[in-house]
Amino acid sequence: MSHDGNRKRDVKQHLLFEISTEVANRVGGIYSVIKSKAPVTTAEYGERYCLLGPLNRTSAAVEVEALEPREDSPLKKTLDSMAERGIQYVYGRWLIEGAPRVILFDTGTAYKHLDEWRSDLWNIAGIPAPPADSETNEAIVFGYLIAWFLGEFTHHEQNKAVIAHFHEWLAGVGLPLCRKRRIDVTTIFTTHATLLGRYLCAGSVDFYNNLQYFDVDAEAGKRGIYHRYCIERAATHSADVFTTVSHITAYESEHLLKRKPDGVLPNGLNVVKFSAMHEFQNLHAQSKEKINEFIRGHFYGHNDFDLENTLYFFTAGRYEYRNKGVDMFIESLARLNHRLKTSGSKMTVVAFIIMPAQTHSLTVEALKGQAVVKALDDTVKVIERNIGKRLFEKALKWHDGNELPDEKDLMSAQERIMLKRRVFAMKRNSLPPIVTHNMADDNTDPILNQIRRVQLFNHPSDRVKIIFHPEFLNSANPVLPLDYDDFVRGTHLGVFSSYYEPWGYTPAECTVMGVPSITTNLSGFGCYMEELIENASDYGIYIVDRRMKGVDDSVNQLTDYMFDFTRKSRRQRINQRNRTERLSDLLDWKRMGMEYIKARQLAMRRAYPQSFDNNEPFNFFDGTERKVSRPLSAPGSPRDRTGMMTPGDFASLQEGREGLNTEDYVGWRLPDEEDPDEYPFPLTL
Ligand code: UDP
Ligand code: G6P
Ligand code: GLC
Repeated sequence: MSHDGNRKRDVKQHLLFEISTEVANRVGGIYSVIKSKAPVTTAEYGERYCLLGPLNRTSAAVEVEALEPREDSPLKKTLDSMAERGIQYVYGRWLIEGAPRVILFDTGTAYKHLDEWRSDLWNIAGIPAPPADSETNEAIVFGYLIAWFLGEFTHHEQNKAVIAHFHEWLAGVGLPLCRKRRIDVTTIFTTHATLLGRYLCAGSVDFYNNLQYFDVDAEAGKRGIYHRYCIERAATHSADVFTTVSHITAYESEHLLKRKPDGVLPNGLNVVKFSAMHEFQNLHAQSKEKINEFIRGHFYGHNDFDLENTLYFFTAGRYEYRNKGVDMFIESLARLNHRLKTSGSKMTVVAFIIMPAQTHSLTVEALKGQAVVKALDDTVKVIERNIGKRLFEKALKWHDGNELPDEKDLMSAQERIMLKRRVFAMKRNSLPPIVTHNMADDNTDPILNQIRRVQLFNHPSDRVKIIFHPEFLNSANPVLPLDYDDFVRGTHLGVFSSYYEPWGYTPAECTVMGVPSITTNLSGFGCYMEELIENASDYGIYIVDRRMKGVDDSVNQLTDYMFDFTRKSRRQRINQRNRTERLSDLLDWKRMGMEYIKARQLAMRRAYPQSFDNNEPFNFFDGTERKVSRPLSAPGSPRDRTGMMTPGDFASLQEGREGLNTEDYVGWRLPDEEDPDEYPFPLTL
């Protein structure tokens, strides 16, 4: 940022603020970034780390435990002075692993300044803000609160260097303010997507072939997002260090935001290793049984397929129909259905689509399905107990010369009637429904319309069944009572055929849970894995080529992947899950977090060059109390990136070098092939 050339701040004991609208507030993947990263960041910084976000009282009530800032601390002085001017906030501990400190500002208490701040933004940065855009208003109020906070804080804390790391444009208004006000912090801006990228891809534009040619201002204007774009671009250009989450988004940013990123900070996960190696296989079986229960209810009256020969596929995420590749998924499912039928396969695929849409409630049918099957189950259990008792009594009275008890006498007439009633309750004139909820826009919903178009109606002859659950999962749901992670564990294959996906947490999460997944070479995660693993599909990472192939060919490739998967034996699936799970280390923050460390070092070097000894080599591992493990430094070069979106020429976070080399931070080797005859866990074949 703009720094006093004469003063030295203590860079070794520097403080870190991370700013995002998803702190303790789940919206999408950014929440996953900051939450899963918390353990490594708090291990490195302890109390020198604090996250700043806007207050969402509902989620904060569950996620945050309020604390008092330490007396006389710069933090307390800053917050007190803001409170004196009417700003409310919650300071506390985020109740997640790592338990980082958070400050959540109640933006509602600052809206009285909105007009003043809007015109200030115009005056200092030339950013217009139409009054009716509430999302932008929120970004402005939040941004001004952040700049206010950082300005006050650096006034009270004069000795330690401060890094402010901002995520995404919604949290980015503070960046141009820090620069204009010459606040003595050093800043990083990480963008997790670009606004224009998201909007252009959601339309019918050939995005990747035209990236260089878009007239960005005009395109933003046409879509009514010019002012938002201005904020994003100002944030990009005001930051000391600018980064993205993947090479593909780096390339996009260079063209759409007009700044070449300083580096790529790929997303990691907090990988939990089980003490028993194959525990995750048992968890798969347990969670699958819960999904089986749901299926029995959902398909009541039509349980004509064998759950032993049923595979669960799913896609999940925010509802971005084209960007998340749901269009391609449904089309491929239709083709898969046809192939399974014509090949006479005994397998059934149930494909779940988990994407929140506007709904009124769960449908009566969905609730009824679970209820009738539960009632049947209860009745059968009662009858089973009674039969057991009778059988025991009769057997007890048996003596030489008697026949064995006749099974026909074991069930009473009353029990037969009870059973008949339960069975009749399962009669149904309609097919099992596609969707579990009453949709607000049933007639115009793109997912439902596409399902109608390809006619996947859960007909008994269909080998592919579809269930659209237009709400994120949670264990309190009466119909499908599973948290997302548990659900994923119970499935067989995640399918994420995204067209626009800067990173894509969903397939990465599958990987660490040992669930194979399909992704594309238009997703950051897909490109990252493709670069690291030669034979990725053996490891349960299937990558659809959406770059070089035409749409129809990509759909066929996706269909082939799914069809080939249905031909695997159970043993092959188990085997593959083991290999998938072994990739976890690749995605662990202990390794991925290294790029964040480098970005922070670079930010400090740029802001406080006088605090570093010029003769001292640029050393990322210096001076901090970092506890995360140092990566192995395996030599070698990445595979040649000839694809058009990964030119690999972004300035590296290692000063004085051209080209970011993935293997600089991933010293990793594929695990050896296991011996298929040695399975240290039970097989039910
Ligand atoms: N997710 C969730 N519940 C669900 C489905 C998805 O919490 O029922 C989460 C998922 O775990 C992932 C995030 O939503 O972390 C989506 O992140 P991703 O990076 O895939 O996409 P984004 O929404 O950021 O574009
Ligand atoms: C896990 C369990 C096995 C079970 C298998 C089912 O590996 O440990 O006991 O047989 O899951 O696998 P499937 O791919 O058929 O769901
Ligand atoms: C964005 C992207 C997603 C990415 C996430 C976290 O929301 O859409 O691909 O995984 O941010 O970086």
